[in-house]
Amino acid sequence: DWTMGAYREEAVAKIREQVGDAKVICALSGGVDSSVAAALLHEAVGDQLTCVFVDHGLLRLNEAEEVVGMFRDHMNLRVIHAQEQELFLGELDGVSDPETKRKIIGRLFIDVFQKYADQIEGAQFLAQGTLYPDVIESVSFSGGPSVTIKSHHNVGGLPEKMGLKLVEPLRELFKDEVRALGHELGLPASFIYRHPFPGPGLAIRCPGEITREKLEILRKADAVYIDQIRKHGLYDEIWQAFVAILPVRTVGVMGDGRTYDYACALRAVTSVDGMTADFYPFSHDFLGETATRIINEVKGINRVTYDVTSKPPGTIEWE
Ligand code: XMP
Repeated sequence: DWTMGAYREEAVAKIREQVGDAKVICALSGGVDSSVAAALLHEAVGDQLTCVFVDHGLLRLNEAEEVVGMFRDHMNLRVIHAQEQELFLGELDGVSDPETKRKIIGRLFIDVFQKYADQIEGAQFLAQGTLYPDVIESVSFSGGPSVTIKSHHNVGGLPEKMGLKLVEPLRELFKDEVRALGHELGLPASFIYRHPFPGPGLAIRCPGEITREKLEILRKADAVYIDQIRKHGLYDEIWQAFVAILPVRTVGVMGDGRTYDYACALRAVTSVDGMTADFYPFSHDFLGETATRIINEVKGINRVTYDVTSKPPGTIEWE
């Protein structure tokens, strides 16, 4: 009978057979798929694996430290922390068009990944956390007419360009199986059950021009919101939740003073696969308490709204 423990041993043996003594590189995002892929690869080939964590300056509060700390210090993987915040934020300066933002980030991500990968002498393999539904999707979508709503951020086409062979040890698994495997490999639940986070990061939760000031406010507000969701025991009921900072300041009153600060929108949805989604029906009490906390604890925000759009017609992200 089939268990995740047996799958793990079989997968490790397959990776060793495919990779031999060669070196492997992997783009680590901190998401479930790349995290489980990295942990499995590391078990199979140890220090032949080097992970590159690209810090584009669009990550959540403490995210880089948490991901790098956990894989490098706790699990002993070789992890390069590519600190490229200046590069990304510099190129995004003054850009407000959503597709332009996505294209800039996608292009820079590939450049940066390639730059760090080139420093790893003799790398022959690129590991990716491709899942079975990704394999199916790319097949069933080919040929049919398609409308691009948002250009997606990934490393497609990179292996050929860099002359690397692919290792995809999760290709036969569904998401729930990947989570079980991650558990089996000793990854903490906080990584295994994380909400999805988009490759372009906070850039697409900051409509209009991206500034360091807005990003800082957004990070703090998002951290308070997620803390509220966890405290109320709602995190695992929600498919994805985040704050978007709006490109507008509004008037408020606090103490005896007038304020003129940013407005933000809270987003939370339930979904099965991200293709369709319903907004989450928070209680009035939860919404009121969360708004009060954000306004009291986050300097720069004086108005909180709740996004009650489902998908379709809305998308989950704001851009
Ligand atoms: P939308 O906004 O299109 O998002 O309803 C559906 C799901 O996809 C995530 N998303 C992305 N994930 N790269 C990613 O890896 C991207 O460029 C990207 N854009 C959106 C989004 O967070 C949601 O879970």
